Amino acid sequence: MTTSPVSAESAALLARADRYYMPVYQPRRIVLERGQGSRVWDSDGRDYVDFSAGIAVNALGHADPELLKALQSQASKLWHTSNVFVSEPPLRLAEELVEASGFAERVYLCNSGTEANEAAIKLVRKWAADAGRPPERRVILTFHGSFHGRTLAAVTATAQPKYQQGYEPLPGGFRYCAYNDLAAAAAAMAAGDVAAVLVEPVQGEGGVVPAADGFLAGLRALCAQHEALLIYDEIQCGMGRSGKLWAWQNDGVAPDVLCVAKALGAGFPIGAMLVGARAAHAWQFGAHGTTFGGNPLAAAVARVALRRLAQPELLANVMRQSLALRQGLAEINRRLSLFEQVRGRGLMLGAVLNEPWRGKAGVVLERATEHGLLLLQAGPDVLRFVPALNICDDDLASGLQRLSAALQTLT
Ligand SMILES: Cc1ncc(COP(=O)(O)O)c(C=O)c1O
Repeated sequence: MTTSPVSAESAALLARADRYYMPVYQPRRIVLERGQGSRVWDSDGRDYVDFSAGIAVNALGHADPELLKALQSQASKLWHTSNVFVSEPPLRLAEELVEASGFAERVYLCNSGTEANEAAIKLVRKWAADAGRPPERRVILTFHGSFHGRTLAAVTATAQPKYQQGYEPLPGGFRYCAYNDLAAAAAAMAAGDVAAVLVEPVQGEGGVVPAADGFLAGLRALCAQHEALLIYDEIQCGMGRSGKLWAWQNDGVAPDVLCVAKALGAGFPIGAMLVGARAAHAWQFGAHGTTFGGNPLAAAVARVALRRLAQPELLANVMRQSLALRQGLAEINRRLSLFEQVRGRGLMLGAVLNEPWRGKAGVVLERATEHGLLLLQAGPDVLRFVPALNICDDDLASGLQRLSAALQTLT
């Protein structure tokens, strides 16, 4: 199946996107209208298998009845209070996050991933300041290939020049070193001026790269040695995507601070910073804040998402479909020899393109769309697979078939 050009109505909508949006995105030339599970339909009635899940957000697929019920029920009661008042959904969510975390004592609720990381960056600075460290000894260490968001501090933590260029002057107090290189991390911390290490247990935007065996444990030891906080950015890899509720559980090394977003709201914007004992008291009244964070609508949805994504059956499905996806990609590769490697964890997999397709992931994505598959890239060389965590056998098989048909046209 390949798609024909869009209808005049859809073309007119796309022309509006070109005319009115700040042109920071280059969306596919289709208009999505509705979704059900891992299927999506565009405004011209064509169906797509969704291997993108809104960039690892729609972890329970589209139009999940229980999420819908939670949202509708809350929508008829109370939409927003601000944090000047309390309401039950965010209170319950905070308690449930602490209980599910295995390490946290307190939670700060916000609206997005970058805000969760921004909160963590500010928390580190305050924690270090209260411990009497001068500003030059409050450095945050992050890793090449990382992605931590687009606010000015989060983009500075993001050790990829392409996201930073043109936004100078950047905030100070960040240092970068190679991912999965403990010796480099030890050297970067040797001066004793690092107050925190911020790391993705599986790098997402940087190409879907899991932490090597022993890397997180090594960082933990370095943090202990230098009295630094260990912060995990699980905004993309957390909430069941790796096959465990928290990606760090694959390595058994708990953090001091954990940032989540994306799948936490399963499609409704929300983020959270979870804080363990060492830093749980670093913030007092007035230290930070947000108008919308912990909005009752978002929290009501997130409570359902958290409960469902922690279920053993759901996590078992992640591992089963991960295997099926790996096998399907291996089978495609036996015929077409397009991938150098498939890597990742659970339902966060990356297929690294080899020559002559290296650098051309964008072309593959266009071709996939034409064949009825919504797919993502992670940089120019890597196809990224982040479907809903409850994807069923049929949808996974159908997505692989469409991928195969799309890739066939390249060879
Ligand atoms: C690991 C990681 N951290 C932070 C972010 C930023 O999250 P948001 O886009 O919700 O601000 C992302 C988004 O892709 C991410 O993958």
